[in-house]
Amino acid sequence: MQTVATSKERDVKILNIVGARPNFMKIAPLMAAEAARGGIEPVLVHTGQHYDERMSDLFFRQLGIPAPDINLGVGSGSHGVQTAEIMRAFEPVVAERRPDAVLVVGDVNSTVACGLVAVKAGVKLVHVEAGLRSFDRTMPEEINRLVTDAISDLLLCSEPSGVENLRAEGAAEEKVHLVGNVMIDTLRANRERAEQSPILSQLRLAPGDYAVLTLHRPANVDDPEVLAGILDALEVIQRDLPIVFPMHPRTRKSLEASGLAERADAMGGLRAIEPAGYLDFLKLLASAKLVLTDSGGIQEETTILAVPCLTLRENTERPITVEVGTNRLVGSDPQRILSAYREVIGGGGRKPQAPPLWDGRAAERVVDVLREKL
Ligand code: UD1
Repeated sequence: MQTVATSKERDVKILNIVGARPNFMKIAPLMAAEAARGGIEPVLVHTGQHYDERMSDLFFRQLGIPAPDINLGVGSGSHGVQTAEIMRAFEPVVAERRPDAVLVVGDVNSTVACGLVAVKAGVKLVHVEAGLRSFDRTMPEEINRLVTDAISDLLLCSEPSGVENLRAEGAAEEKVHLVGNVMIDTLRANRERAEQSPILSQLRLAPGDYAVLTLHRPANVDDPEVLAGILDALEVIQRDLPIVFPMHPRTRKSLEASGLAERADAMGGLRAIEPAGYLDFLKLLASAKLVLTDSGGIQEETTILAVPCLTLRENTERPITVEVGTNRLVGSDPQRILSAYREVIGGGGRKPQAPPLWDGRAAERVVDVLREKL
């Protein structure tokens, strides 16, 4: 019998997964780098974990992310329901599209749900932002990170601690690659465009003369006592320095449910706004005197922007931002927040360095690894 040789190798088909807001700035450079490199067929799947215009669509437009090839439209729910619904909706997509690999980013429920479906279907799993550990298993994201890394075929790390953590957990050396930070690719690519944002004049803020606050972790916003303590600190700070507060839907709900919304509204210097788009938010961060946050990504962004960051958590899965960046862990105790605030305002900051490979070219390195290994 004669065998017929095919003249052209088939492209490597990759299903790229996004679900929640922090995924969008990571997938943007990855989709672009995959499309630019011959031999890869990128397919984009949105789980629909975040679905609002201001939590999702705006980011696609501003970051030039192609419209998703598939939207699972899953929406909100408890962890069990949301994770299960994503799995249920994603499994037939894998069966129909038969990808060579599924690529997931970060640590949200969409990450772990699609990862589990992929490996059980015998499809290779690639995790971008692998190995980060807060060592706090009360955080849903920590569970998502541990599970996703345990089942991934390629573990692509944003900072050296990720590599060390995976080694300590016994991950095979050949799976682990330090590629740098894809979210910083997006920051560097949009820095100049963001300068044109009119947000400061719209909010009548002077550069360097306000703080930015974001708050959405369940540990901070779902417990009324913790939330009230954070408000105690904010009450003092907002008397000196206006605080802009793009408010996450979870936080808005918690403030209302706990009866603390009135107290927050009564603070003249605390200015709640709708969740901001990427460019407005980058402009707000870049011109701030300081940032208060419980987000993971913002710890990284402020490191590159050289803006002092007080992280309202006891731990971080991104230790490099504390080692070389502007980040300080201050927890949620009002006295600790205020003493760190006073130190920073008194000029107690230091000049940050950019962590290795946070140079705007991480997505290219991801694609190099994909081409070599898949
Ligand atoms: C999720 C991620 C978290 C990430 C955050 C960024 C997990 C476990 N958590 O948390 O890691 O830092 O996204 O935002 O995946 N809602 C809307 N509109 C939306 C989306 C959500 O109103 O477009 C409301 C819903 O009422 C929902 C609540 O926000 O119940 C929380 O949304 P969910 O995706 O469950 O978790 P986040 O707190 O956003």
